[in-house]
Amino acid sequence: MGSLSGFPCSLFLVLVLLELLLLHAQSKTHPDDVEVLKQIKESVDPKSVNPGSCLGSWDFQVDPCDSVFSDKFICGLRCDVVSPEGSRVTELTLDQAGYSGSLSSISWNLPYLQKLDLSGNYFTGAIPESFSQLPQLQQLGLSRNYFSGSLPESLGALSSLQELYIDNNNLEGPILSSFNALYNLTRLELQGNKLSGAFPELSQLNSLNVIDVSNNAISGELPANFPASLVELSMRNNSLVGAIPASLSNVVYLQVLDLSHNGFGGIVPASLFTHPSLEQLTLSFNELEAVEAPGDSGVNSQLIAVDLSNNMIRGFLPGFMGLMPRLSALSLENNQFWGMIPAEYAVKVMLSPGQEVAQFERLLLGGNYLFGAIPGQFLGLKPGSVTINLGDNCLYRCPLRLFFCDGGQQKSLMQCKAFAPFIP
Ligand SMILES: *[C@@H]1O[C@H](CO)[C@@H](O)[C@H](O)[C@H]1NC(C)=O
Ligand SMILES: *[C@@H]1O[C@H](CO)[C@@H](O)[C@H](O)[C@H]1NC(C)=O
Repeated sequence: MGSLSGFPCSLFLVLVLLELLLLHAQSKTHPDDVEVLKQIKESVDPKSVNPGSCLGSWDFQVDPCDSVFSDKFICGLRCDVVSPEGSRVTELTLDQAGYSGSLSSISWNLPYLQKLDLSGNYFTGAIPESFSQLPQLQQLGLSRNYFSGSLPESLGALSSLQELYIDNNNLEGPILSSFNALYNLTRLELQGNKLSGAFPELSQLNSLNVIDVSNNAISGELPANFPASLVELSMRNNSLVGAIPASLSNVVYLQVLDLSHNGFGGIVPASLFTHPSLEQLTLSFNELEAVEAPGDSGVNSQLIAVDLSNNMIRGFLPGFMGLMPRLSALSLENNQFWGMIPAEYAVKVMLSPGQEVAQFERLLLGGNYLFGAIPGQFLGLKPGSVTINLGDNCLYRCPLRLFFCDGGQQKSLMQCKAFAPFIP
């Protein structure tokens, strides 16, 4: 009996050993993935690889996916998928390590890769066309490098992509309409390049929340339609012209709109002041000429901050902005507004406590042609309690010793009369 009972026991041991061996075999990295990793290490300039850095630890005498918790492949790698032919690389993170070199000749054949982060290095050359071979890629981070050339058409093939960060590189050429195939895209960040041409209509991207293409050379007019899912649209500091489309009111979840430092003209449409979600509106440094008042006087607006400074807006100050319930920062500086400070503003600089309506904490009206008396409410404000600037107007009863009159002498009477002879 003793020898019989010993038999299943040793069989069990053999099975355990076999299973351990099998497990070990399964964690071996797929040879195709090893090949790509080797190409990456060879493409990075060895002089830029610190021995203690992530890439410095990569040693192909051991198996990459099998060594992610050892002193080889100390970082940069995740292998969360085990296929019958071996472990597959699912994440590659080589960020902010000072690496240089060009990655454009690598064949990026990593069919299971979900995340690639190369941001904050000194990589040069073109964005590899072969990135199109990453069908499962959800996050691509190439921010803050020296990638140049144009955006490859093939990026449009990354059908699983959710987040695309290529900001702060040296890319030029157009933003491609092939991006319209990136159905799962939620963030598109291309700011700080030299991208040019018109901005494409991306209205098919029904998951897109954030577009940031600030600090480029994008020209032409805005497309008529933007994805309805958009929450933030930043196109600051480009060469855009034409009108601000009233149809932005169809982008119902939009909270932040920054179109400053462009060449937009015409009116600021009333639909932006009846928008159901918009909180931050920045249209400074354009060539806008007028503000259209909304039918409901702005009382349903969600706007918290409005900046229309440094345009060419003429006419009375828009009194309705004093009725917008959440507005606390308003800049209308350096335009051609004239007339008196509206009573609605006077009330909003000094609301009695407990009001549900926000008070002005920042009211910048300098550099216009305002005239007349300073409303009494201003005189009750404590210095430092709010930021108000009324300088460089035609307000002759605004002595510099009052903190809100500081920030520039009033214009000369001659200047004011030349603008409008009836200015008293
Ligand atoms: C992409 O979006 C489609 C439809 O919105 C969805 O069916 C699919 O699962 C998404 N793919 C990924 C990888 O998220
Ligand atoms: C606009 O972008 C250019 C180029 O990116 C940059 O040099 C410049 O400082 C930016 N201007 C503003 C006002 O942000």
